[in-house]
Amino acid sequence: MAIIADDQGRIFTLQTKHSTYQMKADAQNVLLHTYYGEKTDNSDKSLLFCRADRGFSGNPYEMGMRDRTYSLDSLPQEYSSFGTGDYRITSLRVQNKDGSQGAELRYTGYQVQEGKYAIPDLPAVYAANEEAETLVIRLADPYSGLEAELYYGILEEMDVITRAVKITNHGRDDIVLKKAASMNLDWEYGDFQWLSFYGRHSMEMNLQRETIHHGIQAVGSVRGASSHQYNPFVIMCEKGANETMGSCYGFSFVYSGEFLIEAEKDQIDRTRLICGIHPDNFSWILQGGGTLWLPEVIMTYSGKGLGKLSRNFHKVLREHICRGKWKTMRRPILINNWEATYFNFTGEKLIDIAKQAKELGIELFVMDDGWFGNRQDDSSGLGDWFPNEKKLGCTLKELAERITAEGMRFGIWLEPEGISEDSSLYRSHPDWVVGIPGRKPCLSRGQWVLDFSRKDVQDYIIKRISELFDGIPVSYVKWDCNRAICDKFSGMLDGSRQGEFAHRYVLGLYRVLEELTEKFPEILFEGCGGGGGRFDAGMLYYMPQIWGSDTTDAVERLSIQYGASFGYPVSAMGTHVSTAPNHQTGRVVPLSTRGCVAMAGTFGYELDLSGLTLEEKGEIKEQIGRFKKHYDLIQRGDYYRITSPLEGTCTVWEIADPSGKEALVSAVYHHVQANPVPVRVKVQGLKDEAVYQLLLNEDFKETYPDRRLPYGFGPGEVISGAALRQFGFLVPEAVNGFQAWQIYIKECPELGS
Ligand code: GLA
Repeated sequence: MAIIADDQGRIFTLQTKHSTYQMKADAQNVLLHTYYGEKTDNSDKSLLFCRADRGFSGNPYEMGMRDRTYSLDSLPQEYSSFGTGDYRITSLRVQNKDGSQGAELRYTGYQVQEGKYAIPDLPAVYAANEEAETLVIRLADPYSGLEAELYYGILEEMDVITRAVKITNHGRDDIVLKKAASMNLDWEYGDFQWLSFYGRHSMEMNLQRETIHHGIQAVGSVRGASSHQYNPFVIMCEKGANETMGSCYGFSFVYSGEFLIEAEKDQIDRTRLICGIHPDNFSWILQGGGTLWLPEVIMTYSGKGLGKLSRNFHKVLREHICRGKWKTMRRPILINNWEATYFNFTGEKLIDIAKQAKELGIELFVMDDGWFGNRQDDSSGLGDWFPNEKKLGCTLKELAERITAEGMRFGIWLEPEGISEDSSLYRSHPDWVVGIPGRKPCLSRGQWVLDFSRKDVQDYIIKRISELFDGIPVSYVKWDCNRAICDKFSGMLDGSRQGEFAHRYVLGLYRVLEELTEKFPEILFEGCGGGGGRFDAGMLYYMPQIWGSDTTDAVERLSIQYGASFGYPVSAMGTHVSTAPNHQTGRVVPLSTRGCVAMAGTFGYELDLSGLTLEEKGEIKEQIGRFKKHYDLIQRGDYYRITSPLEGTCTVWEIADPSGKEALVSAVYHHVQANPVPVRVKVQGLKDEAVYQLLLNEDFKETYPDRRLPYGFGPGEVISGAALRQFGFLVPEAVNGFQAWQIYIKECPELGS
């Protein structure tokens, strides 16, 4: 039983394997947040609260003359509201018919449900009935008829609690939601730091760690999508927390649109965190009887540092967000023609790339941008999802069949949300473009956005793509989205409802994705937002992998993938080996290093194979063999960050089989130094009493440490898991710039004494 309600039905304790969460409806029916953290008992934690008169923090009317220590401004609450005495950042701000902005949420009841709740029309964690329980807590405003139902999904074994909110207007008058967050978390104690992930196009997911100070700190997006600039994922932790020690809390917003995650340290040093849809482009009219579900937040707590916290997220996203066949099936190794040709290709050229790729062991050919309409560059053609047969020299069907006849699967790039001014689609449907009447919408990458909030647009896209794929052996789709959205306005919404546009756009996108993924269950979908511009748990519900960044430079990718690893699994990160010098940075990185870094993701290639030497081709074959051999370990193993690319000379990460029978350690020298300090790897996730052999690089025929280090243990010798954990081994020195080493650690029971 993960949910424990006390006899009066007023204290609710949620127990996971290693954490406890508690809330309590107090005598005033205010729902207090009383505890979240290390696993403890079910006792009432509010007994430990200490209240004082905080002067200018006022008191609810019923308490005002009796007890000036009771203030909504200082009590830790489960779901706060604006305008009635809590002056901190808020979860809910409404506008009533008379223009006032007050709401007071009071506890009215609860319900425990078997299994994990689902959210209509929105992505959410799913689980078998025996894996999860749901708690619903009802709060209502006694004056307006507004009700907020707080949903908690508890996945006990995974240490995961999800939260979502359903708002209903039981009154007669319209209520406008001006801000409606999905969660509020108040800590009664603690100095926090938070880790957030900022970036830009081609340089996403930079880790930033800051102390939560007095005032408000926030990350968010008003760009239509979750964005390159900030990821909808944050971690709150105690100051000393590191990879293996300390308390930390993670929050992943299962939403691909505009979001706001705010933290505030208040006047008495308590901290509040709020996560939800960004209020700047949001207002929602709830008519009498109307309901709005707010997107889900996945929370997890780790008392054992950031590494464990990340592994909790990896597991829940891999197993309870990603769906469909490709969640567990080995995904094909692909080659994408984008960096090989950009827009400059013919059908014959593509077939030639596919043929060469096949010889190296690559399994899927992806035709990127430029195959449709009048699309010779990025200034035209978007929206015209009809093959350019003149350019291809054949029909799409013929091309796909010729590629599949070579023994390769066929994949295709689409950007269904984009539209060019110079396109047939725009000429026939100018009203389908997102834009403010009477103004020319802002261009970005020379293009506009299709109004996915409109049902007719959604229906058109579903139909067009279904017809396009009809009878064609499409195995893979790269679903791109190459600009942010501004000039927000939909011709289908009246003036008072334009604040609903941004959220309706995301709902429309989700509907299209739901229908298409259901219709084409065999197709592997990969998300993309000009790289990692829409890299979030919401997209992973529809497609199990997302192209991580338009930067394919292996050294830059180290920090992008390092940042992403805090919240997302290896199996979600789209990664390719590209050419050298790299197209984005001009950096020259050895092929072995490019392979090693791409193996911390879905793994594929994106370069002109005809320019490779025989030796390089041999190396690619070997890389593919190695990746396939260790596929399960890499994609489903436990991920450990050993060193950071943001400091030192060498980035090291490890993936261990959950049973401890094997591990793969990857090390890349990101900073080249003469006479560098050796890098020690304390291996995690092994069995202390078992013995292991360390095998180095290539097909792991060489035994560590070979001749490059003067100490260590010799060929054929083994070492215990305990020694590897406590003492560790040293990464061999670099013998070239940006050297990568992969060290495969294998249990050898036959060699044990
Ligand atoms: C985006 C993607 C690239 C490529 C181009 C094509 O930038 O991230 O990988 O598909 O679009 O226009």
